[in-house]
Amino acid sequence: MRSENAEPIRLEDYTPTPYTLDRVELNFNLVPDATIVTSKIYLAPRTPEDAGKPLVLDGDELELVSVEMNGRALSADSYDATASQFTLKTPPETAFSLEITTKINPQENTKLMGLYRSSGNFCTQCEAEGFRRITYFYDRPDILAVYTTRIEAEKKAYPVLLGNGNPKEAGDIEGTDRHFAIWHDPHPKPAYLFALVAGDLGCISQKFTTASGKPVDLNIYVEHGNEDRADWSMDCLVRSMQWDEKVFGLEYDLDVFNIVAVSDFNMGAMENKGLNIFNDKYILADPETATDVDYEGIETVVAHEYFHNWTGNRITCRDWFQLCLKEGLTVFRDHEFTSDERSRPVKRIADVKVLKNHQFPEDGGPLSHPVRPEVYKEINNFYTATVYEKGSELVTMIKTILGADGFKKGMDLYFERHDGEAATIEDFIKSFEDATQTNLSQFALWYSQSGTPQLNVAGEYNEQAKTFTLKLEQSTPPTPGQDIKRPFTIPVRFGLVSPNGEDMAYSSSEGAEVRGDLILLTEASQTVVFHGIGAKPVPSLLREFSAPVKLATNLSSDDHLFLMHHDNDPFNRWQSAQTVATDLTIALSKGAETPALSAFLEAMKAIAEDDALDNAFKALALALPSEGDVARELGNNVDPEAISIAHLTLRQKVGEALYSTFQKLYESLAPSGTFSPDAKSAGNRALRTRTLSYLNAAQSDNSAPLTRAHFETADNMTDRIAALNVLVHERVDGYKDALDAFYQRHKDTALAMDKWFMVQATSPAEDTLDTVKALTEHPAFAWGNPNRVRALIGTFVAANQRRFNALDGSGYTYLAQTVLKIDQNNPQLAARILNAFRSWRALEPTRQGLAKAALESIIEADQKLSPDVQDIAERCLQ
Ligand code: ARG
Ligand code: ZN
Repeated sequence: MRSENAEPIRLEDYTPTPYTLDRVELNFNLVPDATIVTSKIYLAPRTPEDAGKPLVLDGDELELVSVEMNGRALSADSYDATASQFTLKTPPETAFSLEITTKINPQENTKLMGLYRSSGNFCTQCEAEGFRRITYFYDRPDILAVYTTRIEAEKKAYPVLLGNGNPKEAGDIEGTDRHFAIWHDPHPKPAYLFALVAGDLGCISQKFTTASGKPVDLNIYVEHGNEDRADWSMDCLVRSMQWDEKVFGLEYDLDVFNIVAVSDFNMGAMENKGLNIFNDKYILADPETATDVDYEGIETVVAHEYFHNWTGNRITCRDWFQLCLKEGLTVFRDHEFTSDERSRPVKRIADVKVLKNHQFPEDGGPLSHPVRPEVYKEINNFYTATVYEKGSELVTMIKTILGADGFKKGMDLYFERHDGEAATIEDFIKSFEDATQTNLSQFALWYSQSGTPQLNVAGEYNEQAKTFTLKLEQSTPPTPGQDIKRPFTIPVRFGLVSPNGEDMAYSSSEGAEVRGDLILLTEASQTVVFHGIGAKPVPSLLREFSAPVKLATNLSSDDHLFLMHHDNDPFNRWQSAQTVATDLTIALSKGAETPALSAFLEAMKAIAEDDALDNAFKALALALPSEGDVARELGNNVDPEAISIAHLTLRQKVGEALYSTFQKLYESLAPSGTFSPDAKSAGNRALRTRTLSYLNAAQSDNSAPLTRAHFETADNMTDRIAALNVLVHERVDGYKDALDAFYQRHKDTALAMDKWFMVQATSPAEDTLDTVKALTEHPAFAWGNPNRVRALIGTFVAANQRRFNALDGSGYTYLAQTVLKIDQNNPQLAARILNAFRSWRALEPTRQGLAKAALESIIEADQKLSPDVQDIAERCLQ
């Protein structure tokens, strides 16, 4: 059932509030089902014209207890208070204070927005609009205020009381079993950065001294018993703080930095000022329960949230349309951090995989939106791959275009100008323009035009003239609300690879602007002629993936195979392998000829046997494109089942052809010594388990002794889960016993159990949907825990292409029913899972019809939809 259709919010309608609000004093009397919040706010008319205008504050499911103005009770006819709004009809014409008391029920807060409970503790999530679920407020990011928070709770149940900023005072409340703590945050901040935690928690601590000599206490709070699993996070935090000082010259600015890990959380983590709150998935790790991927994920998220202290908190967003101002930039910063800490090329490949897997499909379907959207109905639905990942790519392009020095100057100017402010994308771009005297107005189109540009490039060698000509054409398909696009500024990093594998120099060029190894496109169709080219080169284009575009070239598969061997750019070596493998999978899925297969197998062998290559890179280069990759490259009339079968066939062929090579690699990579999560050891494990899956695929013996031994002897989660995946997905004899053994071993560790659900949800077996349904009845399954729901249902719909897209529509029906169920408690989670329909229009006609019917069944269901789910369903159908 459609809820009353909410008016969309538009960027062009931005107006400041009529009142300023620059100081808040909060008091929380914490009781699980009846928490009393008193908020004293200091207001003043923003301009003389604003004086006397009604004061309208945001609320959400609030109950007003009382309200005072300037210390005196207000008469009931001077204000209106509903669950979602507080209006003071005729405020005073000069500065005044309001003291508003509300009552809330954290215990029943299943949306996990505002103040809620997780494992018996109190915690908060306020971004984007959760603070209004705590008290009536100007809940918008351009209202920056100084917060003082007093927290009071029963002492025995909640010994730890945490707030934003620095601790000021704490003590017992005499004659009661309660105690209190007062926190003060001197840095003005928007309400979405407010946080509070009260609970019985363990903690690990470390001292940090900033570059300028200021001491900071670092604490990570976890549930008792998990303290040992927080050491890696602490290590990541310290390295993040040092890196930001070294690379961006940015220091931490409070006496304490607290992180709290909670087990019920809608997102990854949250950068609340001085009090980051994390999904415990991104804090807890030990070799027994976390994989290498988990360790790296923790490094990324800890860094990301810490980096927000400057990009997000010190400089925040004027409105939610500017979300990429903090998110895209902070993702860029965490990418740079990981690149510096680990391997830059490996990180680049991993990031581009994420971009292509998540952002490209989003941008190519009905949910496509610009990096800076101009209209939304539900802001929670805009925490997307486009805002985050494409947003980060835009910052990378600015750096590519301006060079490292120009980029640094622009960032410095941005911090200098806007520290303490709520800024816009225009402010950000202007800082780079002014710092480097560059006009970025065409570049800025990347923020406003949605869709992935298609870049077609054809190269031609002229032997007489010794010239090499590139013809480059860009076009961007229509996207929702945007039929016609203007050309983008596209930086194309390139090399002209000579027959012996070296990059060739050119004497001069004409046509489009070329700077060294960079072509800067600005028009729909451009040509570059390179002079002084002595032999026919193979052009290596879009090195490092220098722009988020879809590239098509006139290169032959022989050219790609040549680049797979010889390209100086590791990214393009990987990309060439992917391109050939994708073409092969598509051909196999259509029953077509595969003339390039044997040369491809040779090239894979050469990579596997190249001792000069880093193992983490090899593991990536030897991976076949996923079923999702192939579907995305096809773009329309997609048959996920045919792709899945083709994918398995190709894997088997690689396994058979490279069997002895993989066998040797597998043996040579046998672990020695104790587990270490460092990049090199992780790379060895990744390559070894890659060979394991090929070796298993090539075996006809269904008892798979190698994989079973791998599973049974594993002394860490990375190896154990990799083997379990193979055992379960290939239905190796005894796979059920393996699942059982895993269950017995890990049943008390939630994050490990998520993996147990995930392995089963991603099985290509025909009865996987039935398994998923049965698992929702398993005692370990919990509808209220977002990690568990995502592990089972989210994984099935997003990562099991074949079975989610079953030809009888059963996967679609199940998703629709499940989304409706989840929506009643947790709309954000429901809307997130519903995103699995974002590519439905690319399917072949039968599945399209079934997917459409399932989407319509959501809109027409006999229940009130959340704005979150309604928005996604409607946009998918538009
Ligand atoms: N700012 C957080 C981060 O990226 C994410 C918060 C998302 N919240 C939401 N309601 N969607 O670090
Ligand atoms: Zn973020």
